[in-house]
Amino acid sequence: MNTRRIIAGVNNLNKADFNTIRNIFKNGGLVAFPTETVYGLGADALNPQASEKIYQAKGRPSDNPLIVHIAKLSDLYTIVREVPDKAVRLAGAFWPGPLTMIFKKNDRVPYSTTGGLDTAAVRMPGHKIALEVIEAGGGFIAAPSANTSGRPSPTLAKHVLEDMDGRIDAVIDGGKVGIGLESTIVDMSGSIPVILRPGYITREMMEKVIGSVEIDKAITGTVPYNGRPKAPGMKYKHYAPRAPLTIVEGETRLVAEKINTLVKEKIQLGYKAGILASEETKDFYTQGIIKAIGTRSREETIAANLYASLREFDETEVSCIYSEAFYTPHMGNAIMNRLLKAAGYQVITVG
Ligand code: TXA
Ligand code: MG
Repeated sequence: MNTRRIIAGVNNLNKADFNTIRNIFKNGGLVAFPTETVYGLGADALNPQASEKIYQAKGRPSDNPLIVHIAKLSDLYTIVREVPDKAVRLAGAFWPGPLTMIFKKNDRVPYSTTGGLDTAAVRMPGHKIALEVIEAGGGFIAAPSANTSGRPSPTLAKHVLEDMDGRIDAVIDGGKVGIGLESTIVDMSGSIPVILRPGYITREMMEKVIGSVEIDKAITGTVPYNGRPKAPGMKYKHYAPRAPLTIVEGETRLVAEKINTLVKEKIQLGYKAGILASEETKDFYTQGIIKAIGTRSREETIAANLYASLREFDETEVSCIYSEAFYTPHMGNAIMNRLLKAAGYQVITVG
């Protein structure tokens, strides 16, 4: 298959491209597209064969459900059994935007889209091109992140092509995404809303709108969770660069000392080592391939560059990567959730 690269305008697709995408979706094909979080790999969510193709292209386990993306609120009511009042309020506050809500699905949503579950995850993305793509696909687009299963999610069209060239019909290049981490997932199908995946929209932001919100045990803590996470995807190894990654946490100076020692040992053995640091700390390191992924005082830069930095290490010959921890005030939970998974929960605590 030849993967077509379509360049998006700043705010819209041209008519010919819109029609091309519409035809691909109609024929059950796959189109990758930008959203405000990460690039998604889209297919018609109501066509079971189309969503099965997503699993094949990504090499994704078939029990890991897809998010259904919509472009208008009224469409939500046509695919779920009930929309609780709290969900209406969250939608009012955060849609279109980086929030996914889980509902009891109705029969229109095939089990191949929900990984066999009776619930469906739904999101209205805050990105003009994404909304047009959803419209071109008839209003319901299943879209996981457009990476090979297990790899860092794509924040550039280039990343999509690294993983998906020849496996999908088209990718829409809309430049670099804004947020850089996947949407917050909150389960609205039970009596109390539960966060299943942390993201830009935090518990505090939601609690201001609807009161008490819980967090799934599977996503708290720095050790792997042995129970069954409610978001099936959270149990798989994820977001990982090719070289093993270790997080070193503790007081800044001690972290730098420890990483410098570890890197020196590797170099003496004839290996290359990578370091993930920040603008504020990069000068503490003396050897190795040092990347400042962002500025701690502007934490959105760390979130936005995390996945691209992990992928960039794959282009070097590092045999291991050491990273600082990034427990920043707003997005720290989301950043560390992804980084811990990328590291397979390898953490060294100093001091
Ligand atoms: O920001 C995002 O959400 C991106 C963009 C493309 O919209 N999409 C995304 O999709 O991150 P994906 O497939 O990479 O992650 C979806 C997560 C998985 O962990 C999956 O297990 C969970 O959502 N999920 C989907 N449907 C669910 C359901 N019915 N119940 C529980 N978890 C669900
Ligand atoms: Mg993903």
